[in-house]
Amino acid sequence: MAFSIRTRLTFWYVTLLTVSLLAFGAAFSYSLAKTFMDHTDSQISSVANMMVHTVIKPSGQLFLPRDFDIILERFFGIRTAGNYIQVLDPHGQIVAKSSNLETFSMPLVGATYHAAIGGATTFEIVRNVGRYPVRVVTKPIILKEKGLVAIVQVGSSLEGMDEIFHSLAYIFILAIIASVLISGFIGWALARKALKPVAEITKTARRIGAESLNERINITVPQDEIGMLASTINEMMERLEKSFKQIRQFTADASHELKTPLTILKGEMEIALRSKDNVEYMKEALNSSLEEIDRMNDIVRNLLDLAKMDVEKGAVPKEPVDLEKVLSDRYEQLKKVALDSGIHMAILRSKPLIVSGDAVRIGQLLSNLIDNAIKYTHRGGAVELSLDSDGGSAVFMVRDTGVGISKEDLPYIFDRFYRVDKARSREVGGAGLGLSICKEIAESHGGSLEVDSAHGQGSTFTARLPLAAQTA
Ligand SMILES: Nc1ncnc2c1ncn2[C@@H]1O[C@H](COP(=O)(O)OP(=O)(O)OP(=O)(O)O)[C@@H](O)[C@H]1O
Ligand SMILES: [Mg+2]
Repeated sequence: MAFSIRTRLTFWYVTLLTVSLLAFGAAFSYSLAKTFMDHTDSQISSVANMMVHTVIKPSGQLFLPRDFDIILERFFGIRTAGNYIQVLDPHGQIVAKSSNLETFSMPLVGATYHAAIGGATTFEIVRNVGRYPVRVVTKPIILKEKGLVAIVQVGSSLEGMDEIFHSLAYIFILAIIASVLISGFIGWALARKALKPVAEITKTARRIGAESLNERINITVPQDEIGMLASTINEMMERLEKSFKQIRQFTADASHELKTPLTILKGEMEIALRSKDNVEYMKEALNSSLEEIDRMNDIVRNLLDLAKMDVEKGAVPKEPVDLEKVLSDRYEQLKKVALDSGIHMAILRSKPLIVSGDAVRIGQLLSNLIDNAIKYTHRGGAVELSLDSDGGSAVFMVRDTGVGISKEDLPYIFDRFYRVDKARSREVGGAGLGLSICKEIAESHGGSLEVDSAHGQGSTFTARLPLAAQTA
């Protein structure tokens, strides 16, 4: 069965407390009992020693005083009750005892008797003398010339100790129960207070769905462990919300971009259908339809490229790519486009550089940048390309004298579907995906893509790619 953290915390807390209180009680009682017993032992053994001198005359004769109570009084003061004296002959038969032992006597068990014969003094606790246990010392009297002449037994009731222990046990048990109850209650309440934020986190996390990603956990103490957990979850929510928004935006934009050419396509088809036998009309409509299909084709291809790169993330093929060759190929391909647009395009600098990666993607990166430079530069303008190395990187630069990008637009131009001038982009056939693809390509190759531009003053795009080991 799974218990809540709160129950487990309280349980362990209470158990530990109980165990430590019991251990303390046991240790305390043990040392108290020992002190008490040591005290009793020293008392009865000094009485026994005195007795030895009392019952043996200087001549070595055994002398038994008539009244032991006087001796008891002398040694124990008025506390004679519960203290006993008994003298036995060498055979273990009682020959004299204090008057409070009238009806019973202190027993002499075999082992003790044997020890006495051997000359040893024994301390033991006997239980059948009176209501309370009695601590008894058994001491033999051995004379050099006569051997064992008598055995002296002095007993002292442990009544006091028994009573103390009873009341002590009573107090201990009550104190343990009370402190366990109180601390258990306080522990339970404290655990509840400490774990309250966790309950809060659970509640909020339950509420969060795709539609309520803006929910956040209310953090009361941000510095403690739970506060940190909550703020980590909040940060995660922030990122999730952002990605969700981006995905939504992306889907909306993609649908919109595809819908426009489709609408145009539909219009063209209707015109073609209505034109009946007019071949010229039909041709025009078909040509225009082809253009829209090309446009859709471009968008879908770009979208597929982006999706592929998202999936491949970080797993780019590592073939050696001759950048100089890629640049000259792309230059040859786009030269005519530049010429048709009345733009002067030239490679200012180039040198053999090898990077490792995907030749097709790197070619795509270069043509997208060159294509943009041509697209967004007016007739009569210039586009300059250069390829150089800087430290461990190949640096490809495209500079144009075109329309430039304003400060407000600069932060967004790498976003998917972002276009500064939608009307112009549509005219030149852009969907706003080229630069985001370029950035993905540069970054997936461990490089970067940067822009430097000002409105009306042309732009410079700089792509850096790490050089392959052999040319670095
Ligand atoms: N060299 C440039 N000069 C001025 N503006 C540019 C330049 N390159 C990009 N831009 C601006 O940044 C926007 C985003 O460029 P991007 O290449 O992503 O899209 P696009 O060229 O419009 O469309 P696509 O590349 O998908 O065909 C462009 O619409 C344009 O406004
Ligand atoms: Mg572009």
